[in-house]
Amino acid sequence: MILVTGGTGLVGAHLLVELTKRDTKIRAIYRREHKIPLVKTVFEYLPNCSLSHFEKIEWVEADLNDIPKLTEAFKDVKQVYHSAAFVSFEPDKYKQLRKVNIEGTANIVNLCISHKINKLCYVSSIAAIGSELNPEILITEKTAWNPEEDNNVYAITKYGAEMEVWRGSQEGIDVVVVNPGIIIGGGFWKSGSSGSLFYKMSKGMRYYTNGVAGYVGVSDVVHCMTSLMDSSIKNQGFILVAENLSFKKFQFLVCDALGVSRPKKEASPFLLAVAWRLDWLVHKILGKRRQLSKHMARSSTAITKYDNTKIKEALSFEFEPLESVIDDTANWFKSANF
Ligand SMILES: NC(=O)c1ccc[n+]([C@@H]2O[C@H](COP(=O)([O-])OP(=O)(O)OC[C@H]3O[C@@H](n4cnc5c(N)ncnc54)[C@H](OP(=O)(O)O)[C@@H]3O)[C@@H](O)[C@H]2O)c1
Repeated sequence: MILVTGGTGLVGAHLLVELTKRDTKIRAIYRREHKIPLVKTVFEYLPNCSLSHFEKIEWVEADLNDIPKLTEAFKDVKQVYHSAAFVSFEPDKYKQLRKVNIEGTANIVNLCISHKINKLCYVSSIAAIGSELNPEILITEKTAWNPEEDNNVYAITKYGAEMEVWRGSQEGIDVVVVNPGIIIGGGFWKSGSSGSLFYKMSKGMRYYTNGVAGYVGVSDVVHCMTSLMDSSIKNQGFILVAENLSFKKFQFLVCDALGVSRPKKEASPFLLAVAWRLDWLVHKILGKRRQLSKHMARSSTAITKYDNTKIKEALSFEFEPLESVIDDTANWFKSANF
């Protein structure tokens, strides 16, 4: 039996598509029942899978912080893919981020140990890797995390979660950790980072930014996860980035693929500095949800480039070019008829 956490999210749903093609029992954790039909739409859209694959999933309701329910979900499990996380960059959500990402991952790791599972795959993030002062130096798996830096709340908790997974490896379970860049894929258009980006861009965006970050298609993420789990590789982490692209280039590619106008103005660091302060003020006075935090503003102009050599060599594998991932995702978005 394979257990998947975060099965109702972007990565988890695409992972379930791959895993249900196998002759193995699959169990997936969900929190909110209304998210399950979204997973079904992924099975309906993608080629080479069908509703009979979707029906193979045994859904179990459990929260990462509900140990009795999680314990039930671990019955007869031999492999675990831990993809669930709370994704937010809002400083006010720090406590909740710690609770779900760090404590929740510690719960998963403890259950993996007590149930003597064979292998755990944890979906971390490039956010949990260190950064380089010189933007031209590629960040690798060896780039050290610096706790003294002004790290954002999501990154701090993904790093803390990864530490729990490495503790698990010290306590005897085999683990593989993947650190994906911004994951591009379809099916979750109003939640999840990349889906909502397509949604926002389809409505028109006025500004672009010139920061650089790493991107990867969701099917490559899932392929690397399952290949690492099938291999004898253990207790290692891998950056999953197909290409390092400027946000401007990414935004232009998405707009072109969607057939909407490209943003015309650059959001300069000064404009962004004004914008996040205004956003904070509106949040404090009107209680509105933060749209732009200081860290989000800063990372939208930061240049961070990642080295993908380790995973390519470990799996003898080439990533799908981003332009093709974006085109496929845009076609899916257009067929969803918003
Ligand atoms: N998307 C990216 O660009 C990106 C990049 C790098 C790394 N990652 C990492 O990849 C993983 C998957 O991301 P994603 O894009 O698939 O995120 P997502 O679409 O937001 O899905 C998150 C999943 O986690 C579940 N979850 C959240 N809180 C939970 C809790 N307390 N208990 C149980 N389940 C909970 C969600 O359940 P509900 O459906 O009930 O909310 C959902 O199934 C995460 O670990 C994320 O940090 C994502």
